[in-house]
Amino acid sequence: MSHFVPPYPKPMTKRSWVFQMLLRPWKFLQWRTCSIRSLSNRAYDMHLGEIRLPLTTIVIPTQPDIVKRVLVDEAEKFPKSRMMADMLEMLLGDSIFVSNGDVWKRQRRMMNPAFEQARIKVVFDLMLDAANALFERMDKLAGQPEAAIDAEMTHVTADIIFRTIFSRSFEAEEAMLIYRAFNEFQEAAYAHGLARTAGLPNWVSYFQYRTSRRTAKEIRAVLDPIVKARYDSFHAGEPQTHNDILQSLVSVKDEVTGTHFDLRELCEQVAMLFLAGHETSAASLSWTLYLISMDQDIQERMFTEAEEVLGAREPQFSDIRKLKVSRNAFDETLRLYPPVAFMPRVAEHQCTMRDKTVEAGTIVSISPWVIHRHRRYWARPDEFDPDRFDDPATTEAQRNCYLPFSKGQRVCLGAAFAQQEAVIILSGLVRRYRFDQVPGFEPKPTGRLTVRSTNGIKLKVTKR
Ligand code: HEM
Repeated sequence: MSHFVPPYPKPMTKRSWVFQMLLRPWKFLQWRTCSIRSLSNRAYDMHLGEIRLPLTTIVIPTQPDIVKRVLVDEAEKFPKSRMMADMLEMLLGDSIFVSNGDVWKRQRRMMNPAFEQARIKVVFDLMLDAANALFERMDKLAGQPEAAIDAEMTHVTADIIFRTIFSRSFEAEEAMLIYRAFNEFQEAAYAHGLARTAGLPNWVSYFQYRTSRRTAKEIRAVLDPIVKARYDSFHAGEPQTHNDILQSLVSVKDEVTGTHFDLRELCEQVAMLFLAGHETSAASLSWTLYLISMDQDIQERMFTEAEEVLGAREPQFSDIRKLKVSRNAFDETLRLYPPVAFMPRVAEHQCTMRDKTVEAGTIVSISPWVIHRHRRYWARPDEFDPDRFDDPATTEAQRNCYLPFSKGQRVCLGAAFAQQEAVIILSGLVRRYRFDQVPGFEPKPTGRLTVRSTNGIKLKVTKR
C-alpha cells in the first residue's frame, strides 16, 4: 500500500527568535498566529525544547517519562498556565477547561456523571439523528465540483452538541453565525493570548482583544438564553422532562460542598462544552475526510467494512467497536492533526528536567503535535498509515507517545463521546458517498486554539 505525507508547515530553519523578530518580522508575525509554524526540524528530534520570551520561558518536553510526570504523576505541581485562560476567558470564563485547584476539582466532580459510559450510550440515538440530518445536506452537495467539508463537519458536530446538551437541533442560521464568529474568535484570541504571554504591551493586540470580546458576545448570545430558561425552570420547582446534559448540570449537587452550579457557572460550562465539544471533533473529522480522499484504498476498506457490519440497517451502539478500519483512520488522523496541538502548564516550583533547572513560573507545554510526529518514537512519523494502530511494533508508542485526548486527571472529559460520534459519522458517510480531491486544492494546516486549515477543506463528493 502506498503511504503519503500530507501537508504540514515546513519546519523553520534554526535561527534565534531575536533574529527572527529583527530581520524577518513577517515570520515573527506568522508565529504569533500559528503555533505549529514556528517549529524547527530539531523540535521533532529533541527531548526537551526551550523558547525564551521577554517575560517568560517555555519548555517543551517530549520524553515520555517527563510528559507522564507533568500530566499524571505530579499533575498538581503543574497546573494549567494562565496562557489558556488569557486566550479563552472572554468566552469561557473560569470554566473547567481553564480552571485549577479546588474550583476545577468541584467542576470535574459535578461534570463527570454527564459523561459516564452509560450516558454515552443514551446519547447514541441523538448522534444518529444529527448524522442523518447531515446526510440530507450532503445529498445536495453530491455531484457539485467542490463541497466545503469543514463547514459541514462544524455544522454536524455543533448539531450533536446541541441535541445532546439542549435536546434540540442546531438551525442553519445559528450554524453560520457560530462558524463565522468562532473562526474570528480563534484567530484573535490566540494572537491576543500569546502577545500577553510574551510580555508584549496591550496595544500590540488591541484589535484582536476587541474582536475576541465581540465574537465571544455573539456566541454567548446564542447559548446563554437557553441555559437561563432551563435554570429558572429548575429552580422554580417546575417539573423537568429533559434527559440531556444540561439537565444533568442544572440538577447536579456537589457531593462535597452540597452546592449546585449558579447561573454564571452554568453558562460558562455550557459554552465550554459547546466549543470544546464541537470544534475539536469538527477539525478532526474534516482532516480524516481529507486524508481518506488522498488514500482511496483506505476509503474503500472503510466502505467495505461498513457494508459488512451494517448492511442496510442503522448502526447500533455495539457496532462501534466492530468498525475497526474507520476507527484506525480516525486515530491516525488524530496523530497527524491533533486538534489540541499544545497543552500549556506552569511549573509551580523550581524543578529539574533532564539535568536542566526549570525555574518556578516557567511554562511547560506538552505538545501532542510534536510528540505524535517525533522522529525517535514513530516510524515514518509524517506519513498517513492507519494500519500502524494494528502493528504490535507501535504498541509502546501508542501507550506512551499518543495523547490526542491528553492523559491523567485532566484527560478530555468527552473522549468517549468524540470517538463514538466520529465512527457514526465516518462510517455513515463512506457508505453513502465517495470523497475525492479537488484539483489544485491543498489545505494549509495552522495551529491556533485547534489545528485547522486556513483555506478550509474542499472535497468533491459523489453519491455511491
Ligand atoms: C476529537 C475530539 C476531541 C479532542 C481531540 C479533545 C482533546 C482534548 C484535550 C487534549 C484536552 C486537554 C487539554 C489540556 O489539558 O490542556 C481536552 C479537555 C477537555 N475536553 Fe476534549 N477533546 C475532544 C472532544 C471533546 C468533546 C466532544 C467534549 C465534550 C462534549 C470535550 C470536553 C472536554 C473537557 C470538558 C475538557 C477539560 C477537562 C478538564 O480539564 O478536566 N472534548 N480535550
